[in-house]
Amino acid sequence: MDKPTHHIFLCASFRAGGDPKGTCSKKNSAELLPYIENEILDRGMDAQITATGCMKACDYGPVMVVHPQGHWYGSVDSEETIDDILDAIEDGGTAAAHLID
Ligand code: FES
Repeated sequence: MDKPTHHIFLCASFRAGGDPKGTCSKKNSAELLPYIENEILDRGMDAQITATGCMKACDYGPVMVVHPQGHWYGSVDSEETIDDILDAIEDGGTAAAHLID
């Protein structure tokens, strides 16, 4: 199995039982998944996007976590924010304006 260099996790608020009841889902995080998938392909990034359950940071939602860097981003609710984060991954840096402190 080829493992991606970057693994991007986007909270889709799933809870035990499968119901997406949390903040990130209510802010339509899952609707951004196709955009992220397409951007990864268009940019030729060695990255994988995975929708997750609640990451226990609901106050900052929608939440995105990038591994292996361990960067946590909040208010990931627009294509512009995603572009900033993907740009940072490609540049080997951080999208500081969107980091959760
Ligand atoms: S619902 Fe996304 S962090 Fe809790």
